[in-house]
Amino acid sequence: MRILIAADHAGFDVKELLGERARETGHEVTDLGPPNRDAVDYPDFAHDLARALLAGKGDLGVLVCGTGIGMAMAANRHRGVRAAQCHDAFTAEYARRHNNANVLCVGSRTTGPGVAVQILDIFLSTPFEGGRHLRRVEKIEVEQGTGLRAHGTAPPAPDKERHS
Ligand code: RB5
Repeated sequence: MRILIAADHAGFDVKELLGERARETGHEVTDLGPPNRDAVDYPDFAHDLARALLAGKGDLGVLVCGTGIGMAMAANRHRGVRAAQCHDAFTAEYARRHNNANVLCVGSRTTGPGVAVQILDIFLSTPFEGGRHLRRVEKIEVEQGTGLRAHGTAPPAPDKERHS
């Protein structure tokens, strides 16, 4: 797959680690910066990666900051981006299986390097399950500025599937 990756200064080292791991495991990686540990503002890099992803320049994105929180907040402002802050194997797996997340957010100050690599491996190798989860993912999108569901998305879920 084509992977876009970016970070801020706090996430720089983990970005390098994850970019190398993605290359080693057969992916084509585009590094959107920063090029060093000089202080930068995480939204600048989250927005750049989100725009590149939505422009079709990559299949999945990876963002690293100190906690993963700010990157996820900024990336999720872009309609069509589903950025998931993942802490472990379980959240990485279900972010893909159920949420069809297209951007992985990792915290360099909250997640050790071994777990970060494990999260990346799972995120990049787990497919979206589709089915009832597709309907739910479609309902995530709202009309910009209104808080209303986007036109053309499925009606509310039947009760029988509420708990699955
Ligand atoms: C930078 O100090 C830190 O605020 C940033 O990396 C990130 O954790 C924000 O969410």
